[in-house]
Amino acid sequence: MKVILTENYNDMSRKAADIIKNLLIKKNDAVLGLATGSTPIGLYKYLIEMNKDHVIDFSKVKTVNLDEYIGIGPDDSQSYRYFMNTNFFNHINIDKNNTYVPNGLAKNLEEEGRRYDKVIADLGGIDLQILGIGNNGHIAFNEPNRKLTAGTHVTPLTESTIKANSRFFDCIDDVPKTALTMGLGQIMKARKIILVASGKSKADAISRLLHGKITTECPATMLQMHNDVTVIIDKEIAEKL
Ligand code: GLP
Repeated sequence: MKVILTENYNDMSRKAADIIKNLLIKKNDAVLGLATGSTPIGLYKYLIEMNKDHVIDFSKVKTVNLDEYIGIGPDDSQSYRYFMNTNFFNHINIDKNNTYVPNGLAKNLEEEGRRYDKVIADLGGIDLQILGIGNNGHIAFNEPNRKLTAGTHVTPLTESTIKANSRFFDCIDDVPKTALTMGLGQIMKARKIILVASGKSKADAISRLLHGKITTECPATMLQMHNDVTVIIDKEIAEKL
């Protein structure tokens, strides 16, 4: 696993954006796996600037997002589809028909999981997957558990994730209790993975990701088995490792 130490959140975002830029310059129709959460917002801002400056072009790029809350629709400001539109897609020259997010309103959610995995397969797989990490080591919404599921599936959220994500909602009761998420098997198929993390609350999860035993109780540790993972962290985390 390659680790890049950076000065701060901006520097982390810039370094991640540069890796994506270099890929898109080589492959302008790449399939990008994208993440939500507050951490990737900075790198999306850099990519938006690069697109405005005509350094990178998204007209042929396809994107697949990791996850979506169940029970809220694309126009709901708390949905991950809405997050992606407002923080990224609305500001770049991407064709929104080429952007995929699981449908949290699907009638048959198991079927939606299978459909989503087929979408990814039909796109030829993910060239580069961006990941954040939860304080408890969750990846996308693959929460610590005795078992993990490989493909896109329905999952309950843990108390700690509901609490952590409640900062985006009016009150904790509004946070959905379930989500559709790509599984670790699907994530591990990405040809390249970049994980971004900043702030000391992530130090323990990053320490386990880098040095811990591989266990489903810390889903991030699964990434140790992938052969092209770059972890980009800031000083606050590095000082605690
Ligand atoms: C959510 C998302 C994850 C993300 C995590 C951390 O649970 N499903 O993909 O990595 O939050 O978010 P943040 O970057 O805001 O700490």
